[in-house]
Amino acid sequence: MNPPLVEIADLGRHAGETVTLRGWLCGRRFGGGIAFLHLRDGTGVCQCVVEAAAAEAFAAAAALTLESALSVTGAARADDRAPGGYELTVRDLALIHAAPPYPIARKEHGVDFLMSHRHLWLRSRRPVAVLRVRDTLVRACRAFFEARGFTLVDTPILVPGAGEDASTLFPVEYFDRRLFLAQTGQLYLESACMALGKVYAFGPTFRAEKSKTRRHLTEFWMIEPEVAFAELDDVIELAEDLVCCVVERVLREREPELRVLGRDPERLRAVRKPFPRLTYSEAAERLRSPGLLKTLEDEFQRDRSRLAAWMAELEELERRLRGLSRPAARERIERQIAERREEIAELEQDLSNRPGHIASAQSFAWGSDLGGSDETILSRQFDRPVFVTHYPVRAKAFYMKQCAEDPRLVLNMDLLAPEGYGEIVGGSQREDNLDVLLRRMTEKGLRPEDYDWYLDLRRYGSVPHGGFGLGIERTLTWLCGLRHVRETIPFPRTRGRVYP
Ligand code: 4AD
Ligand code: MG
Repeated sequence: MNPPLVEIADLGRHAGETVTLRGWLCGRRFGGGIAFLHLRDGTGVCQCVVEAAAAEAFAAAAALTLESALSVTGAARADDRAPGGYELTVRDLALIHAAPPYPIARKEHGVDFLMSHRHLWLRSRRPVAVLRVRDTLVRACRAFFEARGFTLVDTPILVPGAGEDASTLFPVEYFDRRLFLAQTGQLYLESACMALGKVYAFGPTFRAEKSKTRRHLTEFWMIEPEVAFAELDDVIELAEDLVCCVVERVLREREPELRVLGRDPERLRAVRKPFPRLTYSEAAERLRSPGLLKTLEDEFQRDRSRLAAWMAELEELERRLRGLSRPAARERIERQIAERREEIAELEQDLSNRPGHIASAQSFAWGSDLGGSDETILSRQFDRPVFVTHYPVRAKAFYMKQCAEDPRLVLNMDLLAPEGYGEIVGGSQREDNLDVLLRRMTEKGLRPEDYDWYLDLRRYGSVPHGGFGLGIERTLTWLCGLRHVRETIPFPRTRGRVYP
């Protein structure tokens, strides 16, 4: 009888038994006449020990190349030193597929190189960890809305007009006419919430973002709830509950992955209700305040000293490398050097932009939308997400409800993630008055006749309602403590990248 086929994650239930594992070789070393193979199968990594006495298996192990596929049979046993707590003493080794030299070797590559090999890079520890957290984030969102009686409604991707800023529409040739890729499911959700009460959509959305920033993708995923009879405060509370729920589940299920990513889970434990709330006008005042200027300038000086210290450290590492000859030791230092270089380059870049960002915060003019750097500055002042509400009418989309007390403002909210991550959620109460909505559309240069179906919602039983969109990738960037949003989606689409 053949030994049972087992997944690495399940090895613990088979200690002492002979089992077969299948997977890919992700590392190998030799020592004292023994080959140590690291096998990964998508559920975990197992150290497989091949002794020279198992001559055939040992010869096969010696010939293996990285990322070759193989199956191994042997006795599983507990070992505290092994990565997953278990080891396999190999009796037989069968090659499934021999890989030629693997392009992503152990040494550090630049992100551009890795992104061009994203189809292979996905096998590495960091991408795997990010995708696991992503999966948990999406599950948590779905479970949250399901538990609250929301109905999932799928909205179209090919749409006749803008749902947000018309300047970021992607046109699509559709037989003999022009359509666009959806920027949001919102307008359709507004229709659905009048039928089902509480609805949400989860789907891909598209924006022709011309700017290359670490926060923008051209294709990203959004989770969007829409609720009939909800006013701004209800929308805010819903977003607050959702974010708390998601953070809690990620902490519960994905702490090991966060650690692989170097993310300190304590940062996320601070995320509790209530989140601070600022109005846009208060935020604008904060940006211009002399107190903030002082803080930012001090920070700037501190970061410059940090840069100098890192440079000195880099020099020291390079000096040590020159004195080393053992390949393993050299490889370790080389990796440290590559990491330091990358951090230095990032900080240098950041420092070179900083004076401009500080100046633009200081001269922030009431009426414009908050820029990326303004959001960074604001959200660095908090240890949990912060709501900014009541933006000027002219800075925001046509569908946002105008504030009765102050018609210069809309009843909206943006949720900024802390530590400088910036906007992860955007939402509002919707304009439910037909005449006001018509006027707003005209002001924004939209043709009401293109939106006649949407205007019907204000003709037949119009009620207050509202909702928001939470960007999956922006949220994940924050949760995982990443620098750039492109690492949060399996195959990123940006202005500069559509391959693979
Ligand atoms: O603030 P936005 O544009 O809001 C809407 O689209 C509304 N219609 C949603 C609604 O009320 N139902 O986008 C919502 C969120 C942002 O807060 C951000 O997290 C994400 O979507 N987002 C992007 N993520 C990555 N790349 C981009 N280019 C993004 N643009 C928006
Ligand atoms: Mg927004």
